[in-house]
Amino acid sequence: MKSINKLQQKWGVGQVQFWLIMTTFALGGSLSGYLNKLILKLVFLDKNLAYWLIYPLLLTILWPFSVILVSFVTGQFSFFKGYLGRIWGRLSGGPSTMGSKMGSETLGSGHSVSTSPIHVAIFASGAGSNAKKIIEYFENKTTRIKISLIVCNVPSAGVLDIAESKGIPTLMINKTEFASTGYVESLHNADIHFIVLAGFLWKVPEVLVHAYQPGMKIDSSVVNGKVNTARGIINIHPALLPNYGGKGMYGSRVHEAVVAAGEKETGITIHWVDAHYDEGDIIFQARCAVDASDTPTTVAEKIHVLEHQHFAPTIESLLK
Ligand code: GAR
Repeated sequence: MKSINKLQQKWGVGQVQFWLIMTTFALGGSLSGYLNKLILKLVFLDKNLAYWLIYPLLLTILWPFSVILVSFVTGQFSFFKGYLGRIWGRLSGGPSTMGSKMGSETLGSGHSVSTSPIHVAIFASGAGSNAKKIIEYFENKTTRIKISLIVCNVPSAGVLDIAESKGIPTLMINKTEFASTGYVESLHNADIHFIVLAGFLWKVPEVLVHAYQPGMKIDSSVVNGKVNTARGIINIHPALLPNYGGKGMYGSRVHEAVVAAGEKETGITIHWVDAHYDEGDIIFQARCAVDASDTPTTVAEKIHVLEHQHFAPTIESLLK
């Protein structure tokens, strides 16, 4: 079960899609075996040495075509197009495109250009105090990390004023298009390598999770003839996940629930983003006490202190 969960996270897919992918692998494998035997039967009269030499070769050639064919039926064409593309990229000596979300060590391995900037997009829906801290942390540093885009879904959000005052371009998004395309093309065109959710309240669609898996190619981002690769998506949550997370648990609602439950302690969690609310692998947590006199407002203040202190350095350590 654990390895199934890991694979789901790695591919950025939910349970239903995971089993559709597995079915496609199984049926594609059977189909290629069947076609292989059929073709060889037409060519060879008996199973001589040449038969057994050609058998694995033809099977290898037929397998991707069979899997793609079956993927149309199972509705997994876009997954297999990317999957086979990545295998082909590795076989032909291109950059590795199947990085893992599990650690910063693997994060670096898919990135082909070590001196070029790492462009970060911050997604935010509200005041943007975290976005501001992150921008300020990196703007006066000698670093490859550049906060290059603010993505926002609320026209009145304070984060837009921050972006304007810092001269950072913004991308306003709408729910329908976000759910269907994840704005992957716009993010690729803006050369974004890494995504930070800082108070962003919509669920990230699978298409975006998948496109920004560490190691996925960003075709429009070519430096010195080499294609850059994605570095992942992370989120900050104002509680100690897995507690007080999931759909509807955001901002003040989290602090209200923490106080109502009489918790003695709360904190922040920075985690990788998968296609489920607040469920990706945890990267970092910090804690603070909840005193008897605390209210949701004072807890929110304590949480913001922790977030402002730890978010930017965590991003920095992931992108080293
Ligand atoms: C932050 O506390 C962040 O953890 C929370 O929204 C706040 C945004 O504050 N995010 C969530 O609740 C996500 N589930 P900010 O706009 O001042 O950065």
